[in-house]
Amino acid sequence: MIPPPASTASESERKLVDQYTEIARLAGALAHEIKNPLSTIRLSMELLAEELRNPETPRERRALAKVAVVERECQRLQELLDSFLSFTKVRKLKLEPSNLNQQVKQVLQFFQPKAHDAGIEVIDYLAADLPTVLLDREAFHGALLNLVINAEQAMPQGGQLVVRTSDRGDGVRLDLIDTGCGVAPNALEHIFEAFFSTKRGGSGLGLPTARKIIEAHGGRIDVQSEVGKGTQFTIKLPVPARLPADGSGAQAAM
Ligand SMILES: Nc1ncnc2c1ncn2[C@@H]1O[C@H](COP(=O)(O)OP(=O)(O)OP(=O)(O)O)[C@@H](O)[C@H]1O
Ligand SMILES: [Mg+2]
Repeated sequence: MIPPPASTASESERKLVDQYTEIARLAGALAHEIKNPLSTIRLSMELLAEELRNPETPRERRALAKVAVVERECQRLQELLDSFLSFTKVRKLKLEPSNLNQQVKQVLQFFQPKAHDAGIEVIDYLAADLPTVLLDREAFHGALLNLVINAEQAMPQGGQLVVRTSDRGDGVRLDLIDTGCGVAPNALEHIFEAFFSTKRGGSGLGLPTARKIIEAHGGRIDVQSEVGKGTQFTIKLPVPARLPADGSGAQAAM
């Protein structure tokens, strides 16, 4: 049998990538297109709710209750579309030399009131003299926030969240360890897949988006979990000297 020309594999890979890119573009465009009529529906529902503000008959009360259902579902759809758009949008990062501890502190400061209300004790062990890393601070903030919110949701009765940074020589490491419900082994292999969620109303886009962002930084994210005990997410980020001089490794399109 004559072997296929050497270029065939890369040619078909390129075609696949092109097709994927086109589908992702179309899906993003579709999400955008859905957002406009959805806003109109929401606005109309708000006006309708306003008209039915003081229901006098059982019929009006029933109508108002149905309007509330439509409003709630519209809100859910809007959040889903926003999450989907931020998932498809993560592309070029604006990398700046940053202190990882500072980014972590900012997220924890933002999270603290929620944690307090939820009975979660946040303990941070932030290593002194961490080497500088390159971060797109806004994107990274979003990724971390997703992780701490997941931890909060995994601890409905309260618990502990340990956040630890360390210098590993070959990069910096960030661990988030919660004492929550944990992830079942058969779910663990799917949690980074888009739309995988075990939560009512969850989009299942939080972790895939976080992973995309972290990988775009040239880093990686891993998870270990035990049902009933808790979950540990570990993020590893390269230090700038180990990034390609032009930073291209971290800015690659996804
Ligand atoms: N810290 C955690 N403890 C236990 N399970 C977790 C944790 N983090 C993630 N998971 C599991 O991974 C799934 C996917 O998480 P992801 O953040 O992608 O979506 P979600 O949280 O379900 O939805 P959304 O982020 O839109 O609210 C969750 O539904 C949950 O089953
Ligand atoms: Mg989530």
